[in-house]
Amino acid sequence: MTISWQKPLLFLLLLMPFMQLLFDVLMGNLIDPIEEITNPTGLWALRLLLLSLLITPLNKILPFSIIKYRRMIGVFSFFYACLHLGIFLIDQQFNPEFIAEDIIKRPYITIGFSTFIILFLLAITSTNKMVRWLGKRWKKLHKFIYLATILAVVHFYWQVKSIADIEPLIYTLIALILLSFRLNWSKMKKLVF
Ligand code: HEM
Repeated sequence: MTISWQKPLLFLLLLMPFMQLLFDVLMGNLIDPIEEITNPTGLWALRLLLLSLLITPLNKILPFSIIKYRRMIGVFSFFYACLHLGIFLIDQQFNPEFIAEDIIKRPYITIGFSTFIILFLLAITSTNKMVRWLGKRWKKLHKFIYLATILAVVHFYWQVKSIADIEPLIYTLIALILLSFRLNWSKMKKLVF
C-alpha cells in the first residue's frame, strides 16, 4: 500500500468538523454561537485525544502500521482545543481579569486550562527536531498524555448540568479502557501477589 495520499486524506477528514463549524458560522446557522462552537470543539479535542491513544494498541493487532498517523491526530486534538479556548477568550472579551477569575474560581475551567497546557507542551514538542533534541526525555514528557486524558474527562464531567447526562460517562469509560491498555499488567500482578 502506498502512503502518499493517506496523510492528506486523514488531514482533510480531521479538518471536516472545523469546516462544518465554519460553514455554520458563515451561513448564520448558529442560534447561540458561543455554546454551539464551545461544545463541539471541546468534544473533538477529547475525541481526537482518545483516538491518538487508541493508535498504539490498535497498531499491535493490525497487520500494517498506523503509528505514522498518531502525531497528526494529536496535533489536531490541540487544534480543536485552541479553537475551544479561543471561543472562551472571546466570550470573556479577552479581559485578563475575567479570564483569571474564571480560571481560579471555577474548578472545571482550572482543569480545562491545565489540560490545555499539557496539550500545548505535547504539540510544541512533536516536531522531528524536538523529538531528536529531547531524546529519552521525549517519551517521559509524552506520558503526560495520560494525565491530559484524565483531566479532560474530569473537565467534561464537572461542567455537566444534569446527572442524567450519560455522555461524559461514555467518554470516561472509553478513556479508562484505553488507559488500562498502557498498564503493565504482569508487573502489577507481581506487586499485588
Ligand atoms: C483551554 C482551557 C479550557 C477552557 C477555558 C474550557 C472551557 C469550557 C467551557 C466554558 C465549556 C462549556 C461549559 C458549558 O456548557 O457550560 C467546556 C466544555 C467542554 N470542554 Fe472545555 N475548556 C478548556 C479546555 C478543554 C480541553 C483541553 C478539552 C479536551 C481535550 C475540553 C473538552 C471539553 C468538553 C468535551 C466539553 C463538553 C462539550 C459538550 O458538553 O458537548 N476542554 N469547556
